[in-house]
Amino acid sequence: MNLPIEKLQQLSTPYYYYDTDLLVATLAEVKSHLTSDFHVHYAVKANANPTILRHICKAGLGCDCVSGGEIEACLRAGFSADKIVYAGVGKADWEINLGLDAGIFCFNCESTEELAIINELAAAKNKVARVALRINPNVGAHTHANITTGLAENKFGIAMEDMEQVIGLCEAASHIEFVGLHFHIGSQILEMDDFVALCHRINELQDRLEARGISVANLNVGGGLGIDYEQPQQHPVPNFRDYFATYRQHLKLRPGQQLHFELGRAIVGQCGALLTRVLYIKNARVKKFCIVDAGMTDLIRPALYGALHQISNLTSDEPQEVYDVVGPICESSDVFATNYALATAHRGDMLALLSAGAYGEIMASQYNCRMLPKGYCTEDL
Ligand code: LLP
Repeated sequence: MNLPIEKLQQLSTPYYYYDTDLLVATLAEVKSHLTSDFHVHYAVKANANPTILRHICKAGLGCDCVSGGEIEACLRAGFSADKIVYAGVGKADWEINLGLDAGIFCFNCESTEELAIINELAAAKNKVARVALRINPNVGAHTHANITTGLAENKFGIAMEDMEQVIGLCEAASHIEFVGLHFHIGSQILEMDDFVALCHRINELQDRLEARGISVANLNVGGGLGIDYEQPQQHPVPNFRDYFATYRQHLKLRPGQQLHFELGRAIVGQCGALLTRVLYIKNARVKKFCIVDAGMTDLIRPALYGALHQISNLTSDEPQEVYDVVGPICESSDVFATNYALATAHRGDMLALLSAGAYGEIMASQYNCRMLPKGYCTEDL
């Protein structure tokens, strides 16, 4: 990403900066691999900055929401309701009603209990709810345990064994239209073999359904494509070519069947950075701490998943020194990096934590009565 240092130095830290030129280039790359039967719904949970949403909407993508708040944010950003898919194990009545009133493309339904409520609420409005069933494919992904979702022990989705029975329930329900199947195996997945395993599983399930004369109009394979956190500046755009080619090669689409994706991180991850200033260089007995004004309240990924975001000192070109880069929060896990080599840092230096466009600003909290970080885009400077 491009970091316009002089302009960035004028803003008070900590804050997020989004290189929307990189976002636009990333979106163009995504679109170059799509055909008319491939549809990408941006996973809004990764970043709901209004300017970012508007760019994604302008590029023609749909969106994947997991709450009423996200549906509202997408409608405000200009997305048309018929491109919104809505997942989540705990949809509240007002959220289902919002989806029904807006006329979203479909509810990704995660249980028979939820299906019954959607049917009831749709009946009360004399509407028919389009429903895709989220099936738990029991496919593992090589990623952090907290972000795998497709295993039988996870709370998500309907067990494969129950699929035919639940499709039967959809067909029997007066105000439900069964429109497809939905899957998602996890996030930050870099091995295409994990997606191949999902394709094989879906092929098996489709064969089972076909034998019973059940056809499926839409398949939704979720998201999960990872980004290069180690070398973000060398690989600013993720490997969409291999990702889409994997599905084209391994997933047996039936004639007319539409394939949907829910990519979040891969679209926005590399275009964002968290900007922070050095408060103190603390020379402790065993370590040198670089204490910055951003903390785990601004970017929780290192504390929550042990994630490493590359850190660049934008205002020093002195030889490197090794630091533990830490925030000001009263928690021992408020550490961005340990034994990290950084151009010699001084009080006031400006650091950028890279690859922070996804699951950064949106996961910020006000713990310790801190202010939420702001987000600025290229066009805001
Ligand atoms: N679809 C579903 C059903 C999901 O649960 C998710 C992410 C996505 C799509 C988008 O996945 P992506 O393409 O972004 O990998 N906070 C964690 C990531 C949590 C992902 C949750 N679900 C992190 O910072 O790594």
